[in-house]
Amino acid sequence: MTTTRAKITALGTYVPPRVLSNADLEKMVDTTSEWILERVGIRERHIADKGVAASDLAVAAVKNLLESHPFDLQEVDLIVVGTVTPDMMYPSTACLVQHKLGIQNTWGFDVSAGCSGFVYALNTGVKFVESGQYKKVLVIGSDVNSSMTDYTDRAVCIIFGDGAGAVLLEPCADGEGVIDHVAQVEGMGGQYLFMPGGGSLNPASHETVDQKMHYIHQDGKNVFKYAVKKMAEMTERVLERNKLTGKDVDCFIAHQANRRIITATADRLGMPLEKVIINIDRFGNTTAGTIPIAMRTAIDEGKLRKGDMLLIAAVGAGFTSGATLMRWEF
Ligand code: UT7
Repeated sequence: MTTTRAKITALGTYVPPRVLSNADLEKMVDTTSEWILERVGIRERHIADKGVAASDLAVAAVKNLLESHPFDLQEVDLIVVGTVTPDMMYPSTACLVQHKLGIQNTWGFDVSAGCSGFVYALNTGVKFVESGQYKKVLVIGSDVNSSMTDYTDRAVCIIFGDGAGAVLLEPCADGEGVIDHVAQVEGMGGQYLFMPGGGSLNPASHETVDQKMHYIHQDGKNVFKYAVKKMAEMTERVLERNKLTGKDVDCFIAHQANRRIITATADRLGMPLEKVIINIDRFGNTTAGTIPIAMRTAIDEGKLRKGDMLLIAAVGAGFTSGATLMRWEF
């Protein structure tokens, strides 16, 4: 019996044109460009204009994908969107993307996994393709972090940017495409990174606005410590399970949250920095957008080519974590 596997056959990305530099932030909060570069690794990030939502970035990323890989969108039979900044509580961003792109006869849903959003959405899409019933699945990571960032909180506003990426998943033969994934949630982490307002626990009110409950709340130190530990643990777990080591990986893309988290993980895996994709300096942390945007950087820099063994990994709010191993197929 042949096994159906899933491979990524196309990639599209989008970041809004407006750039917020470290110099701009120096004028807004008590920080310095040197501090941000040294402690986090960011020079600038892209920020959406007011009225531009996660579905808009997602649609732009899909349109970008179509430029390099034209196909009939009506063939898409599932849309999975990773986001924690949906246009609204409901309908889902996947529904809005379907409507804006005019795709008929499809279905879709959102995946909420913070910075692991793209990895979780991808793994979900992969399972649908592997079922043999789905031939074209759009997996999108899109976040407008600026919509929930307090630009008076210097420990948070320097980190985040807005952006989106989309990939197309299609069936392939055994031995090609996505090989394996691991994932884990540890809900105790909810206390360290969350947005408390606007849900059923703290519905929007004057009070929730006054108490800044509609902004990202982050205990950076605890998130950092967990991310360093977990990023290494997940990548090692997926490699060991497949009898591989860091040496077998041609390209490593970690969620871009802090340059120091990425280099610490690469160090632990014994992976030289030439194989590690770092673009946080240009985009900041775009949450579910980081990994597909970094895939684009990897291709542009000639570090990700057809046939390469690619390892992606993320840790995010929840806590959520995951790592996926695949052969890059285009
Ligand atoms: O994907 C999940 C999303 N989030 C993350 O991954 C975040 C992970 N955490 C981090 O990246 C880091 O913890 C931060 C970048 C958030 C903070 O860096 P840190 O080196 O852990 O700083 P810290 O929280 O230990 O703070 C050290 C000092 C503090 O001052 P005092 O109390 O020692 O006087 C902070 O107030 O740095 C101060 N600080 C800043 N100084 C200048 C915090 N933010 C800034 C800033 N500019 N922007």
